[in-house]
Amino acid sequence: MTVPLLDGVPRLGDLDVAGRRVLVRADLNVPLRDGEVADELRVSASLPTLEHLLSRGASVVVCSHLGRPSEFGDPATSLRPVADRLAALLGPPVALSADVAGEDARARAAALQPGEVLLLENLRWEPGETKGDPELAARLAALAELYVDDAFGACHRAHASISGVPGLLHGAAGLLLERELEVLGGLRDEPARPYVAVLGGAKVSDKLIVLERLLERVDVLAVGGAMASTFQLAAGRTVGRSRVEEDRVESVATLVAAARARGVEVLLPDDLVVAAEFASDATPEVVEADAMPEDRMSLDIGPRSAARIAEVVARAGAVFWNGPMGVSEWASFAAGTRTVAEAMASSSAFTVVGGGDSAAAVRSMGLDGAMDHVSTGGGASLELLEGRELPGVEALRTTQRES
Ligand code: 3PG
Ligand code: MG
Repeated sequence: MTVPLLDGVPRLGDLDVAGRRVLVRADLNVPLRDGEVADELRVSASLPTLEHLLSRGASVVVCSHLGRPSEFGDPATSLRPVADRLAALLGPPVALSADVAGEDARARAAALQPGEVLLLENLRWEPGETKGDPELAARLAALAELYVDDAFGACHRAHASISGVPGLLHGAAGLLLERELEVLGGLRDEPARPYVAVLGGAKVSDKLIVLERLLERVDVLAVGGAMASTFQLAAGRTVGRSRVEEDRVESVATLVAAARARGVEVLLPDDLVVAAEFASDATPEVVEADAMPEDRMSLDIGPRSAARIAEVVARAGAVFWNGPMGVSEWASFAAGTRTVAEAMASSSAFTVVGGGDSAAAVRSMGLDGAMDHVSTGGGASLELLEGRELPGVEALRTTQRES
């Protein structure tokens, strides 16, 4: 039996925050385009917790990672654009420290007045963050008196700001984290059936372990996106010039066979939209999935495959979708993703979209409001749904308590 996700986790509402300085770990890891925030879902989703704290007289130090920087001070991964966006949405100015938890952050944090906000620079500029370094956790903890974890999208990472800090400060789950755990916990523990997972996106290797355990829970798995090519190869088909992960073919074949033996319906595309090159203006052609031309690559699922997934979604009890069905940012190869999104929007099933590219696609189509939940977590929601313990949630259960 898995523990109900919020059991033993202190909530934001339990904290007395008036006049206190609170460190909030948010996941403001957003896509940037031309130096600006390209999709602000994660920024807007972090507002309720910040507003809760500020309106109760707390001062707030917000921290987040952005991207996967390899060196301190890398300007391409500065949180500057995020600070500007956050200030525009939140109201009060948002100061940005020059360092992460160094001299500048310490001085600015110490000077914060109730109702003021400081954003720390990119946590991953500090190599200790991803290593879960206790020394960095201590420097972060020293910036505040209380800790709130609202970084659902990163709570599957045992990093210093997520696993380390709550051991040093009294911590609680923020409103976003709480809502994500409630909704996704319900889907994990009592999904309405049939429970359908639609998985796409680029890499199978990222998702293999998740897939194995997710397949023990779902009734139907529909596969699309670039990762479908590895499934096609595992099914004995050829894939032309499509990208595949050769070294995963055998594991995928084993996985699919085991799932089918347990009665899980595994849907692979029957038809594909292909092109001669990986380009937005390449000419799209529809081919049968078992007759893939040698000189073509697959860039979307075909219309018959999309319609079949739409049918399954229409009669589902619950649907979880992660990863686009094709290169959805290019109009010629977006139809599969659009069909799945529209089918989910009109289904009476409980519909959840996992974060990242599929959430961005649904938002750009204006269909996010028609879903029951659009998660801010990609990898985190997958790990949660496969039944894995999330380090961030675990750390809150055993957080330092104030006497
Ligand atoms: C995400 O975007 O999935 C989260 O912010 C975590 O980022 P990461 O995959 O680089 O750890
Ligand atoms: Mg619905």
